[in-house]
Formats: sequence, C-alpha cells, structure tokens
Amino acid sequence: MKLDVSRADLTVGVIGTGAMGRGIAQVTAAGGMTVLMTDARPGAAAEARDFIAKMLERAAEKGSMSKDDAAAAVARIKIVDSHKDMKPCHVVIEAIVENLDAKRALFAELEEILTPDCIMVSNTSSMSVTTIGAKLKTPGRFAGFHFFNPVPLMKLVEVISGLLTEEWVCDALMQLGKRMTREPVRLTDAPGFLVNQVGRGFSLEGSHLVYEGVSTFADVDRVMRDVGGFRMGPFELMELTGLDVTQPASALIYNQFFQEPRYRPSLIMQSRYEAGVLGRKSKKGFYEYDKDMKAIVAPEAPAPAARPASVWVSPAEEAGAAKLKELLSKLGATVESGATPSAKALILVTPIGEDATTAATSQGLDPKRTIAVDTLFPMVKRRTIMPTPITDSAYREAAHGLLASDGVPVTVCRDSPGFIAQRIIAMIVNIGCSIAQSRTASPSDIDKAVTLGLNYPNGPFRFGDVLGVRNIHRILENMNKIYADPRYRPNIWLTRRAKLGVSLLTPEP
Ligand code: NAI
Repeated sequence: MKLDVSRADLTVGVIGTGAMGRGIAQVTAAGGMTVLMTDARPGAAAEARDFIAKMLERAAEKGSMSKDDAAAAVARIKIVDSHKDMKPCHVVIEAIVENLDAKRALFAELEEILTPDCIMVSNTSSMSVTTIGAKLKTPGRFAGFHFFNPVPLMKLVEVISGLLTEEWVCDALMQLGKRMTREPVRLTDAPGFLVNQVGRGFSLEGSHLVYEGVSTFADVDRVMRDVGGFRMGPFELMELTGLDVTQPASALIYNQFFQEPRYRPSLIMQSRYEAGVLGRKSKKGFYEYDKDMKAIVAPEAPAPAARPASVWVSPAEEAGAAKLKELLSKLGATVESGATPSAKALILVTPIGEDATTAATSQGLDPKRTIAVDTLFPMVKRRTIMPTPITDSAYREAAHGLLASDGVPVTVCRDSPGFIAQRIIAMIVNIGCSIAQSRTASPSDIDKAVTLGLNYPNGPFRFGDVLGVRNIHRILENMNKIYADPRYRPNIWLTRRAKLGVSLLTPEP
C-alpha cells in the first residue's frame, strides 16, 4: 500500500464544511488525525469548527470521551484559506455541493496541488464515482467515501471503487474508516451505491401500493412498524428526509439503471415533490402537522363487534394454515374440520404473494366469503387481512372482529398480491440479491450496511433467511405473474438459492 494509514501524523483534508463535512472532520479529529478544513463561503469553516467543539464538549460531558481528548481533537482541526494549503494532506475528502461540474473542477485543481500518492475521495450521495473521476489525470487514486447523516451517529461509511480506482486506495480507505471509528463497507460503483439502492425497495414499494389503492400512508406505516419490525414506516421516513431529497434520488437511480423497472419511481412522490409538499420541512407531506409539529394521524376505527358462526381455513398453505388455526383456537373460534367449508362458513386463506381473488378462484372457494390473512409474519402486534373485491361486508367484519378480539389491532387492506409487508420486504430482498449478483458488494456486507445505514431490523439476506428463501421467491413470482410487470421478477441470485433450498448468504466462488 502506498499509504500507511496508521501513521501518527496522518493529515486529512476536508473541503466543504456543511452538514456532512463538519461531521466527517469531527470523527477524523476524534480518531487522532490532523484535519485541514476549508469552505468556499468565508467564515463557514470557522463556524464548523465551533460546532464541532460544542459537539465534542457535549460528548465529554456525557462521558463518552475525556475533556482532554475532546480539547486535543479540536486542536487538531486547522482552518486553511485555499485549496493550495491542502498540499500536506495524505487524504482529501470532498463534501461540497452535489454538482458534477463543481466536483470535477475541484478534483482537477486538487490533482495539480496534492502529492501524487495523496488519495482523493468524494462524499457524493448520488453521482457515479467513475464519472466524477473519469476526466482526472490520475483517476487511480480517486474513490467514493460515502458517509451518512448525522456522521458522528451513523457508523456506516461506504468505500466505493470506481472503474479506474486502484485497489490500494480502497484498502487504505477501509483502514481509514476504522481509524475514524466507522464501520466501513467495500463496494464497487453502482447507482445508489448500496444503501440507497436497497432503500428504494422500502419507499417505492410503499408508494406504489398506496398509488394502487391497496392501503393508506398511515396504515402502511403501521404495518411496517408493527408487523415488519421497522422503527418507522416508509412514509414516516420520507417525511423526515423530505421528498426534495428522496424523489430526485429515486428518479436518478432509476435513470442511471437505464429505467430498470425494479427502481421505477412513484407518481405520488413526484406530484408531492412538484407541489412542494415535501414532509416535515414544508410542514405538510404525507401527513399534516399540528402547531408542535406532531403528525396528525386519525385514530384507527374500533374493531367491529361481529364474529363468524364458524371458520374454515384453507389447507393450501400448510404452514400458514397451522399458524392461523392455532391463533383461531386461542381466540375461541369454531374452526371447521371438513375438507370443504360449510355453506355459511367464513373462509380464510393464507396466501404467499397471491391476492385474495387469485387464492379464492384458484382453490374454487366462494370469493364472497373469502378473506386472506397474512401469516408470514408474527401476528402478535398487528394482523393484516384482505378481502376480495366482492367479499360480503358481513364476512369482512366478522373476520376483522374475530382476529382483533384479543385486542391486537387488525389492518384491512384492499386486495393485493403480497398484502403490504410481504411485498415491501420481498422487494428489499430482491434488490439486495441483485446487488450481490452484480458483485457490487458481498451478502454479509449488504446486510451490515443496511442495518447500520437504514436501521432496518434485518438486512435483505437475513430477512430472506428468516422468512424463508422459497417464500420470498414465491411472493415475487406470484406478483410478477399477477401484475405481469417485470418490476417484480425475482433476481437470479434469489431464484437459484430458492431452487437449491439454501441460505441467501450462500456465496458463489
Ligand atoms: P451542505 O450544503 O450542508 O454543505 C456544502 C458545503 O460546501 C457548504 O458549506 C458550501 O459553502 C460548501 N461548498 C460548496 N461549493 C464549494 C466549493 N466549490 N469549494 C468549497 N466549498 C464549497 O451540503 P451537505 O449536505 O453537507 O452535502 C455535501 C455533500 O455530501 C454532497 O455531495 C451531498 O450529496 C453529500 N451527502 C449528503 C448527505 C446528507 O444527508 N446531507 C448524505 C451523504 C452525502
């Protein structure tokens, strides 16, 4: 390696000291390195250093570092006036405005100033690392180093090699990331890199199913929290990030992938973006807000008091039927044991990736009495049920009343292959598989990056293994068939492991 990252005098330049640059400077200085910092706006770098000093003081008050260490870290941050002053740096990190021409101009200038072995990296969140580096005279020493906001709290950093990046550069960045107390993950350049690619599964599939009329923003959020185990639903998350960030990023990833249907943007996000209905920052988004900026969410309607006289559970899905029957007996329902339902029984089906209509018609069941129940996830905090378009309302209410009779809330969605959680999580898994298949990153690194960078309860591969690789594959295959939309075609990585009956983490030498 041309750079010894452990050297005591390692000097790191940070150009652009906004939200990201100051966070990067903070973790660099706290990691024992000297930081040279500059910004095009006069006074901005000094403001950033004051901000960092406050943050480190607070960390010392909380006991996460000593007062002396905090003071020493601040003393290691030096403000410089011009890019020429970056000459002593071993690594220079760019965190300026997200504009290709501005970034290219900066690196072209730096290349003439810095020593030949100085590594140059961009913290770009959406541009191709290969593209930024392509016009450099020495593109081999240029890479992506993608941090997450707020940097001191978000441990992940993506180390991205562009097509022309030399191997030693990413080796050094992996070590540098660790010295900054980050959790670096190595990948090759791809639209959305790793984390932002996987994040499309969550936000876009949620939006597509609301656009389709399957459910509401609030219900999708509730299901993804209570059923999927996510800290926030996709709409709550987009409210925080803002559609001014999420929508252009989604459109960009889709176009950079040459209109790959898996990343197809959603009209409900685009129209809100155009109308300036962005989320919390515009005080109105998918939710409305009160004067204290608390989201106004209509309470869920109380569960109906109705109960069915008897229930028949389709045996078509063995595991789902067993799970549901166990729950029904706990709820005190009269469960029929015949091979077919009696004339007035409520009919419950437990499809994997099928809609209630397909399950009822393909099994020769009366669609007016059929309700689908999602049994793939734990049914402890919330249950999701789905009628066919012609299910009699009395049967729908009886199913809802019965399944909510122990106080667990029930979400009723319109007919949809995969309910809500099945389809969103299947998309996340499918995108994870396509990242592994294209050798952008390893499966274990994909899971690590997704749990650290997106705070999901599981990464795509662990989700697949917990819910069943064949189940995920069936969800996608059924969606693909029912919608006739290549958006839902399973990735070959997933298909092969489903056929072989092995873990999604199984690598291919
Ligand atoms: P920001 O707007 O908070 O800060 C950018 C700073 O760069 C400003 O202080 C500005 O004065 C300065 N600047 C602009 N052009 C410059 C130039 N030519 N030379 C020197 N300084 C210049 O932006 P933020 O959010 O910190 O983003 C910076 C970069 O990090 C962008 O590329 C962005 O895409 C990326 N990023 C942002 C994330 C976020 O959540 N905000 C997450 C990950 C990456």
